[in-house]
Amino acid sequence: MTHKFKFLAFLSLAVLLSTASWSREKTYDGSLPKVHIIATGGTIAGASTDIGYDAGKVSIETILQAVPGLTQYAELDYEQFCNIGSQDMNEQIWLPLAKRVNQVLACGHYDAVLITHGTDTMEETAFFLNLTVHNPKPVILVGAMRPSDAVDADGPSNLLKAVQTAVKPDAVGKEVMCCLGGRIYEAGAAFKNDTHSLDPVSETSVDWYLPHNAATGFFIEDLQELPEVGIVYGYGSGSTTALEAFVNAGYKGVVFAGVGDGNLNRAALDLAGRAAKNGTVIVRSSRIPYGGVYTEGGEVDDERLGFIASGSLSPQKSRILLMLALTTTRDIGTIRSYFRHGVSER
Ligand code: SIN
Repeated sequence: MTHKFKFLAFLSLAVLLSTASWSREKTYDGSLPKVHIIATGGTIAGASTDIGYDAGKVSIETILQAVPGLTQYAELDYEQFCNIGSQDMNEQIWLPLAKRVNQVLACGHYDAVLITHGTDTMEETAFFLNLTVHNPKPVILVGAMRPSDAVDADGPSNLLKAVQTAVKPDAVGKEVMCCLGGRIYEAGAAFKNDTHSLDPVSETSVDWYLPHNAATGFFIEDLQELPEVGIVYGYGSGSTTALEAFVNAGYKGVVFAGVGDGNLNRAALDLAGRAAKNGTVIVRSSRIPYGGVYTEGGEVDDERLGFIASGSLSPQKSRILLMLALTTTRDIGTIRSYFRHGVSER
């Protein structure tokens, strides 16, 4: 045997052994961990067109055929839950999706759930599921920035990373995770911060870390819909038309994506103050991704006006927390404590 051949034989053995230890991580009887994949669409299921691509076109069966190595790590099965671009994701899908994840994990057959999903609103679905799934087994959303038929598609390597992560024992007892750019992020901190990069997610610092389990979050099994909550974006010389429209339409809550430290211009502040007095729940968040919005040390008297400061939550995550909170209470003090400390062991 030449040195080169010996080295290659050693390398293959090392790869084989490390693969074997990966794939056997969570087994007690020599069988592979069982992972259920719920497919919802996104660019990971995208197909190229003359001008670019369409998200949510390719079936999960076809996507999985492009990553044959996955079956070394887990026994996989799958379902096509929907096939949409995640810009069309909404609470009419989130509610049944959360119920389905709870059902799959509770049946006892599966060790983890993977959800293929578009990257545009992945952080919102992850955050929603983190507040509504009551089982500590891993739940990982996985997406891609290039469509499934691109020569250099990133979906296959992200899927591989997501499956490898899902079968590791230390993935249990975490928050819902997102897998993009070959990396893993947790629901509370993750946000998409780049429209094109293959690694489009960053993390903010969070006020609370809330692994999903039996004692955390909200119980949605009996819910068919969520209270309507809108988001208003703040800007220089901002108009009050959008805020007024939400309030007049009877929205139960409005999140203000304020400028700077969650600030509203004078007209918006007056209007939001009146709306809060009349029962619309107003949350002050910020269009700035870092730093958070707090009552202490800010310019707005939240106590007097009856507003809620979003803490570290972005406007889109604040909207989700507020919708879920409003299914259980309208008490401003209680909702404030959810924003400040999370929702645990109520
Ligand atoms: C989508 O979010 O469905 C489209 C964009 C993407 O997946 O990157």
